[in-house]
Amino acid sequence: VPVEPFDLAIFGATGDLALGKLLPSLFHRWCDRQIPESSRIIAVARDELDDDAFRQLVRQRYLDGHERNLDEDSNWQAFAERLTYVPLNAADRDGSWDKLQDVFGTSENLRLFYLALPPSLYAPVSENLAHHALNVPGSRIVLEKPIGSNFHTAREINERVGAVFGEDAIFRIDHYLGKESVQNLLILRFGNFLFEPMWNATGIDHVQITVAESVGAGKRASYYDTAGALRDMVQNHLLQLMCLVAMEPPSDLGADTVRTEKLKILQALRPIGRAEITDKVIRAQYSSGAIKGVAVPGYQEELGSKSGTETFVSVKAEIDNWRWAGVPFYLRTGKRMSRRYSEIVIQFKPVPHDVVQADSGKIQPNRLIIRLQPDEAVRLMLMTKDPGPGGVRLRYVPLNLSYADTFEKDYPDAYERLLMAVIRGNLGLFMRRDEVEAAWRWTDRILQSWEDAQSPLQTYPAGTDGPTASALMLARDNREWFDEG
Ligand code: BG6
Repeated sequence: VPVEPFDLAIFGATGDLALGKLLPSLFHRWCDRQIPESSRIIAVARDELDDDAFRQLVRQRYLDGHERNLDEDSNWQAFAERLTYVPLNAADRDGSWDKLQDVFGTSENLRLFYLALPPSLYAPVSENLAHHALNVPGSRIVLEKPIGSNFHTAREINERVGAVFGEDAIFRIDHYLGKESVQNLLILRFGNFLFEPMWNATGIDHVQITVAESVGAGKRASYYDTAGALRDMVQNHLLQLMCLVAMEPPSDLGADTVRTEKLKILQALRPIGRAEITDKVIRAQYSSGAIKGVAVPGYQEELGSKSGTETFVSVKAEIDNWRWAGVPFYLRTGKRMSRRYSEIVIQFKPVPHDVVQADSGKIQPNRLIIRLQPDEAVRLMLMTKDPGPGGVRLRYVPLNLSYADTFEKDYPDAYERLLMAVIRGNLGLFMRRDEVEAAWRWTDRILQSWEDAQSPLQTYPAGTDGPTASALMLARDNREWFDEG
């Protein structure tokens, strides 16, 4: 279904996010006829380019990442015509804003500003948009995560951007919320009766959330080194996943109903102070190693300088409310791990009494495994009897829903979905101001405790599943990281 016609200005249009994600996503939506012909994409960046040079740049970058022949592709020609380039340093109030004003002209299309820029520019650029009267009524602004680098910078950004755009016109992206498998979490929980009665401290022993990557910091090392895994991944993606698993059933799926429930979880997160920081949070950095047999350098070699930044973090998070009392949520994420996968594992309580007394095998607790990527699946691990005579042999096997085997459709990538959601005004896929700030409060406390306790930085060889300390953190609780392979 086509969206309404829009004029989308992308600031930072020659950067990695714009060229690698946003423009390919828009092209795909164009090919699917979801973007009306009168829409325009206005690329803004400091480089002195013209429309043609910019179109070439987009084309080349697209071809680097996709197998598709664009030479005789009429879709590509038509899409490229929608692209206009405006050279402008948007942080400079006195820059040549008149060209941008001319391009927008008197167009009545929905007006969107996407800031694919470092967060320190969100406030000044918003203020410059207002100064040059570009924020006409109805216009919307899109901000990438991270919103700031701590609670104070996030609040300042929210205040200053909020002085120009109303909260309903601010779309704060956490691209995990645009993933098909993440959206399915709500349906899995609230479209089935089966799980909900057990979805609490009575039925669940603990939850694990893993977002593992095999890539290193790579080209983004200079940004990454100022952030680290806690700010880059946990503060946003992992906490958002945790909220969707832990929140109370909302009364409907309205944007604010859901966001209010997520906020309550963030507010109930137990702060991790100096005394328990080494037991509950592990920080580590990769050293050189090998991924699938290929040697890769360590983080500091990649960066070209010494660094104390963590590329891996695992946390024992606890939610202080009735539903989750005593149920830890173990979160872990890292770069240069053995492989790329994201998974949520809900481990249910063990059976209260073993009536089976099997000849071989041991009863294991049920697990619900929600595989988010790369091969989306939902698996419910059950105990069964190994068929055949000769006593009771137990087998732990999955009831398996694989997306690839079950659904024929290709579904849009997260950015495609999120861009269309901005145009449709569907705020439910974006973070509200109070969520971002609550997430930062908890994250800041960890950062502070690291500093106060001078928390050691562990190392792990690239291509492994993180440092031993992370396994020991669970072992102390008589648990282990579940790794299906
Ligand atoms: C981004 C982080 O938000 O998410 C990156 O800044 C990370 O460091 C990326 O690589 C992971 O996203 P995905 O969709 O590949 O899991």
